[in-house]
Amino acid sequence: MDVLFIGYGRMGGALGDAWLKSALVNNLTVVDPGLPADPRAGVFSQLADVPREQAFQLIVLAVKPAYASSALAGLSDRQCNQATVISVAAGITEHTLSEAVGRRCPVVRAMPNTPVLVGAGCTGLYAHGQLDAARKAAISQLFEAVGAAYWVEEEAMLDAVTAISGSGPAYYHLFSEALAQAGVKLGLNAELAKNLAAQTAFGAASLQHQPHADFTELRVAVTSPNGTTAAAIEVFEQQGKLRELVGEATGAAYRRSVELSQG
Ligand SMILES: NC(=O)c1ccc[n+]([C@@H]2O[C@H](COP(=O)([O-])OP(=O)(O)OC[C@H]3O[C@@H](n4cnc5c(N)ncnc54)[C@H](OP(=O)(O)O)[C@@H]3O)[C@@H](O)[C@H]2O)c1
Repeated sequence: MDVLFIGYGRMGGALGDAWLKSALVNNLTVVDPGLPADPRAGVFSQLADVPREQAFQLIVLAVKPAYASSALAGLSDRQCNQATVISVAAGITEHTLSEAVGRRCPVVRAMPNTPVLVGAGCTGLYAHGQLDAARKAAISQLFEAVGAAYWVEEEAMLDAVTAISGSGPAYYHLFSEALAQAGVKLGLNAELAKNLAAQTAFGAASLQHQPHADFTELRVAVTSPNGTTAAAIEVFEQQGKLRELVGEATGAAYRRSVELSQG
């Protein structure tokens, strides 16, 4: 598959490197002004330098949202006629992207998250109208190479995906920060508290990831009546405190995502 990346920073680089490594992609062309140009290796500073007669099956847009439309301007017919454009730019709508490519090829929006960097990402995908099954399967396979991938039926659902899995890693990091700080308050040294918090997050996530895992059952299994875990859970669950806070926080992320996509 011949792939053009427009933007090869944190997210673009993580995706491209993983796809090359897994041999899903064999020919990568990159446009990024931040990289040393090397046309023989397929690395260009600007789109205008990419050979206009070169065709691509996939064009990945991975620039900051503010530059999304302008970065797509200037694609030649040959470059985009056989392509699917995948945009990871947060909040840039399918309509805006389709306009930017002159409606010459289908556009898919992807909302990955940072664990893509370690092959444990979670990506929400959306395509407007009919995207043929073969293209959809190929795109699923690409994002499954860096974690899990899920299609949503409506574009608006990407705002919910953003609030849960897009921003979600930061919520878990915040909880780990708080857990490690609490460990220090209880007398542990900072490094040990940090390691305990990180390894516990990893272990709990691994249990949650088992087939047919049920979050409530997993929690109940470590919560003996009147035991230590029960004492802590009682505090978290006081009048639904934690669940209410999570609902409020994700609601705020959702509303911000909607605002950003409305420009
Ligand atoms: N990082 C994440 O966790 C994450 C998650 C979901 C979605 N996203 C989305 O991914 C996109 C990229 O984020 P990122 O974190 O990877 O940003 P980043 O590290 O800043 O990468 C963007 C790259 O694009 C380059 N660039 C700027 N203008 C360009 C142009 N016209 N043509 C080609 N390349 C251009 C930048 O070069 P210069 O630095 O030289 O300008 C930079 O190397 C954003 O839209 C973001 O919403 C990111």
